[in-house]
Amino acid sequence: MNILFASSEIFPYAKSGGLADVAQSLPEELRKIAQVYTMMPLYQTVDRQNYNIVFSDFSFDIWLHGIRHQIDLYKNANNPYELFLYNPILCDREGLYHDNYGDFGDNHLRFAIFSYGVIETMLKLQLKINTIHINDWQTALIALLAKTKYHLSQKIVFTIHNIAYQGIFHKSVMNELELNWQECFKSDRFEYFDQVNFLKAGIFYSDVITTVSPTYANEIQTPYFGHTLDNMLITNNYKLTGIINGISYDVFNPSTDEYIYKNYDKQTYELKSQNKVKLCKELNLAEPHRPLFVFIGRFTNQKGVDLIVQSLHLLKDFEINVAILGSGEKYYNGVFSKLVDKYHNITIKIGYDEALARKFYASADFLLMPSVFEPCGLNQMIMMRYGGLPIVARTGGLRDSVVDFTDLHHHNKHQGIGVTFDEHSMFWYMHAITKAISLYANQKKYIKFAKHNMSVDNSWKTSAKEYLKVYK
Ligand code: GLC
Repeated sequence: MNILFASSEIFPYAKSGGLADVAQSLPEELRKIAQVYTMMPLYQTVDRQNYNIVFSDFSFDIWLHGIRHQIDLYKNANNPYELFLYNPILCDREGLYHDNYGDFGDNHLRFAIFSYGVIETMLKLQLKINTIHINDWQTALIALLAKTKYHLSQKIVFTIHNIAYQGIFHKSVMNELELNWQECFKSDRFEYFDQVNFLKAGIFYSDVITTVSPTYANEIQTPYFGHTLDNMLITNNYKLTGIINGISYDVFNPSTDEYIYKNYDKQTYELKSQNKVKLCKELNLAEPHRPLFVFIGRFTNQKGVDLIVQSLHLLKDFEINVAILGSGEKYYNGVFSKLVDKYHNITIKIGYDEALARKFYASADFLLMPSVFEPCGLNQMIMMRYGGLPIVARTGGLRDSVVDFTDLHHHNKHQGIGVTFDEHSMFWYMHAITKAISLYANQKKYIKFAKHNMSVDNSWKTSAKEYLKVYK
């Protein structure tokens, strides 16, 4: 089985969200059983030297609407199956898709160049590929091109990591990208309220659609979660399936993690607390015997940061410590920066800091994840692997991976134990936190659950097999 995996971001080369982690860890697991080529844009921000990314002496042109776009092919010298496409329009700017959270106006062209480039690379190098796996709107055009321009025989598997981002552009794009109006500009295909929608094309033209958890596969067929594409997904649900993501068990491993203060595993669980003591000292949080609640993530409405912000002036009076790490939308960065140093038991760090994030996981007793919606979510899995309990809104992949500690008769073996809440309101969010505090007071029970979480299998082992099934 030979697979071509195309993604707009792959960890550690470039990352704006969980997609990059999946695009690294899923191919890594699949490579144990299949041949997997990965392709991503070689953004100017990728550290070529550090990762040994070298020119592969191969360039070609794509002509679109009378304009020549040159693509240079690069590869990872340590792994020639990792390919990188360089084109200046696609790659030479700061940030991957956004400029200060305003869209780049030419994103349609950038990712069309990439999509054409992926197919042309496969054809020109005569790669023997059975299945092309594409991800999110940035590579969705590959499905349309494969079916309407290139008439490829390869199976196209399209994964939706987040339906909130769709790639919607003016219809003049049809001409600019040399697409067939009659074939494509239809309301069940690429057309979208007299515009074009890349994600929608991916849904129509792919052979299989997957999304990153079973619950999200159902949710996106409803108006609330479907972000206007619910009907489109209902029509195409015969080829839609939910496969829960895994995390890399090599990268996220408390017994070998070099970023944390003290390594530990399930057998030496008591060593975990040394991490908390050191972190609290570093963050100026007193009384490290208190339960430590952490939030790690993008500051965006999806992640429930409004609840986080609004709860802080209540949590300041609790016998707990809170540590927040993240960055994101300008508005939220501003809100959080005003709260830095305001409360003695709450620390806020604004920025992306992998090393500090790992220390947070190693130290935390509870992870706060009150997402408004969450296609899969990876942080709750990382928290469990590091022996803590996630506090989650019961939506998407959070629902599939975490069961509430008071509801254990509904527990299946793939789920970890945490605290869950259904209604997205301050009342139920605070209720969840107070439940967590009451549980923590019963140390015997808390530790039993924390250790259970360390033995739950959220690696890719099971889910990679599911992908192999849909690839066939
Ligand atoms: C997106 C989703 C997140 C998911 C990730 C990887 O970032 O928001 O829930 O875990 O993609 O699939």
